[in-house]
Amino acid sequence: MITLAILVIYALILTALLAYNGLREDNDIPSHPAGDKINRILIIGATGGTGLQLVEQAIEKGFFVTALVRNPDKFKIKHSQLQVVKGDVLDFGSIEKAVQGQDAVVSALGHKQFFGPTRILSEGTANIIRAMEKAGVKRLICETSLGIGASAGRMGLYYTFFVIPFILPFYFWDKIRQEQIISESATEWVIVRPSMLTNGKRSGKYRHGTGIGNYLWTARISRADVADFMLNRLSDNTYLGKAVGVSR
Ligand SMILES: NC(=O)c1ccc[n+]([C@@H]2O[C@H](COP(=O)([O-])OP(=O)(O)OC[C@H]3O[C@@H](n4cnc5c(N)ncnc54)[C@H](OP(=O)(O)O)[C@@H]3O)[C@@H](O)[C@H]2O)c1
Repeated sequence: MITLAILVIYALILTALLAYNGLREDNDIPSHPAGDKINRILIIGATGGTGLQLVEQAIEKGFFVTALVRNPDKFKIKHSQLQVVKGDVLDFGSIEKAVQGQDAVVSALGHKQFFGPTRILSEGTANIIRAMEKAGVKRLICETSLGIGASAGRMGLYYTFFVIPFILPFYFWDKIRQEQIISESATEWVIVRPSMLTNGKRSGKYRHGTGIGNYLWTARISRADVADFMLNRLSDNTYLGKAVGVSR
């Protein structure tokens, strides 16, 4: 009984810390002067679940896509509007090269190193931003997660009391640093915080904004719909400088 109480208190304290330390306020960001149309985009995490959807849908929408991948052999999509470059977000040189000549960067960076301190998301994103600022690339659309900052607790009880405190505490802590780095950057950023991801089809039917997700149950959204929402942020300024939730 005492052990259970301690675990619950630990989960509550962690949720409070994720709320307190995470991004809670919007920034006011002046947008690119009208006329700077986005044609060329760099997709980070292109071999991942959301990343593959981003690549396919971006090509469909007519963008010229550069997919940054660690292992090009793993990447099977071929298209005349697509170039694949080998790179690693932790290697600044490779990011600097990939960012050259782009109009925007869309990141679905993630990893599976859950059990231990990690800085992959924050250091990788810092490299992306440094390269963007150096190359004068303005727009950054980055996927993080519900459950931090103003959305703390909104992944539902299962995540709040089990998944985040016992499987993903280091991962979520790094997401806090990642969002902080983005919010302090000079980019035109939008942070996209989805609920639990599925591999379902693109429906185009989802909600976005503040107050997304639920404190009790775990809401879901397909990676295809998240990609749809992220790509739409390239031509829309509604959420510039904001961390926006997205879910069915
Ligand atoms: N799962 C959920 O329910 C959920 C819910 C909310 C938010 N999210 C977040 O949403 C994001 C996307 O999730 P996902 O499941 O769609 O992605 P994913 O399948 O885990 O893919 C992650 C991508 O990041 C790439 N990557 C990892 N380390 C890299 C590095 N050092 N340099 C360059 N690329 C690197 C991976 O490349 P490799 O193929 O080379 O490994 C892969 O392409 C993640 O940040 C995740 O935490 C997930």
